[in-house]
Amino acid sequence: MTFSIGQYGLAAPVVLAPMAGVTNAPFRALCRRFAPGLVYVNEMVMATPVVHGNAKTHSMITFGDDEHPRSLQLYGSDPQIMGEAVHLLCDAGRVDHIDLNFGCPAAKVTRRGGGAAVPARPELLRAVLRSAISAAAPYGVPVTAKFRMGLFDDWLTHLRTGEVCAEEGVASVAMHARTVEQHYSGEARWEAIGELKEHLTDLGSTIPVLGNGDVWEAHDAVRMMEQTGCDGVVIGRGCLGRPWLFGDLIDALNGREVRPSRRLGEVLEVMVDHARMLVEHLGENHAMRDFRKHTGWYMSGYPVGPEVRRRFSMTATLGELEDIVADVLDAVGPDTSIVEGGERIKRGHTNGPTKVALPDGWLDGQTRDSLATDFAVPDDGHVLAMSGG
Ligand SMILES: Cc1cc2nc3c(=O)[nH]c(=O)nc-3n(C[C@H](O)[C@H](O)[C@H](O)COP(=O)(O)O)c2cc1C
Repeated sequence: MTFSIGQYGLAAPVVLAPMAGVTNAPFRALCRRFAPGLVYVNEMVMATPVVHGNAKTHSMITFGDDEHPRSLQLYGSDPQIMGEAVHLLCDAGRVDHIDLNFGCPAAKVTRRGGGAAVPARPELLRAVLRSAISAAAPYGVPVTAKFRMGLFDDWLTHLRTGEVCAEEGVASVAMHARTVEQHYSGEARWEAIGELKEHLTDLGSTIPVLGNGDVWEAHDAVRMMEQTGCDGVVIGRGCLGRPWLFGDLIDALNGREVRPSRRLGEVLEVMVDHARMLVEHLGENHAMRDFRKHTGWYMSGYPVGPEVRRRFSMTATLGELEDIVADVLDAVGPDTSIVEGGERIKRGHTNGPTKVALPDGWLDGQTRDSLATDFAVPDDGHVLAMSGG
C-alpha cells in the first residue's frame, strides 16, 4: 500500500492527530518505536507567539533527531500572521510539514471567530490557507488542513471547506466527523467523511482525504476506509495509553494479523518507559504532574482497582511510579488481560454537546455554499494554550 503526504511516503495511511498536551516529542518517539514511517503531528502551537518569538511556544516545537517528517500543527486565523509564522519556521529549517487547525471547538476561540468558526467564512479560510501555502512553497514544505463537519447540523461546511482546501493546494485534508456543537459527544459520523471524499473526487481533486473520529482499534481503521472510501486515517484518543496501536494499524492496513491486546505487564513496562522519556524532556517535577493523566489512560480497561488508580493519579516522582507498578504486579500479575471491550473505553475528551459561540453576525450573509465576500480578521491575541480539536 503506498500513501504519501506531499513528498513523504508512509508505511501505512496513518497519521497521529495533533493533541495539545499529549503529542510532544517523547510521546511521538514512543509511538515511532512501535511504528516507524508514519506521520506524527506535534501538539498545536499558535501562529502569533511564533511570530513574536515567545520562548514557551518555541520550546514546544521540539523534534527528535531521527524524526522525519517533522510535523507541526499551527493555529491562527489572521492570514498575515499565519504567513509570517510559516515563513519563519520554514526559513529556520525547523519543520518538514505544517498542518493547519480549523477544527478547534473551544468556545473562547470560536466566540472570536477563530478555530472551527473560520470555515463558516470561506473567504477567510481561503486567505489563511493561501498565505500559509505560499509561505511554505519555496521551501517545499507541504501544508495540510484539519477541520470538523461544520458548526451544527444546520450549518455543515465540510464540502465547501474541502473544496477551498483543494483549490488552494493543500497536500491533504483531515476531517473529524463531528460538528462543533457535538464537541466529543455521540459517535463520529463517518458518512460525512464519505461525502467529502466523493465531493472532492467529483470535482476532479485527487488530494488524500483522511478520516478522523472514533478509531479505537486497528480494525476500526480498516472499516472506516472501506465504508467511506477515504484514503487514510487520523488517530487521536485511540492511542492514549496505547502507543502500540500504530504498529497494529500498519499490520491491519497491510492485511496482516493484528496482535491481541497487550497484557498488563507489557502495558506497565511501556508506561514506565514513557514516564522516563517525559522526565528527560520536561524535568521530573513537571513531567510527573503531566504524566498523571497518562496513567489513567494506560490503566483503562485493566482490572487494577480504584486504589491503584488513585495512587497513580497522585504520583510525584518516577520512583513512586515504579513502586506502584511493583505493587500492582505483585497483586494481580503481569498476565492480567484487558476486560472485554476495554480498548473502546472513551478517554481523553468525552464532553459535549455544547452551545456554539460565535461573534455577533458571524453567519450573516453566509450560507454553507456561498463564497462569501468580505471578511474580518478575528483576534487571536487572547488565545493561550488550549486543547484545539
Ligand atoms: C487531549 C486532546 C487534545 C486535542 N488537541 C487538538 C489540537 O491541538 N489540534 C487539533 O486539531 N485537534 C486536537 N484534538 C482533537 C483530535 O486531534 C481529534 O480530532 C479528535 O480527538 C477526534 O479523533 P479521535 O476520535 O481519534 O480522538 C485533541 C483531542 C484531545 C483528546
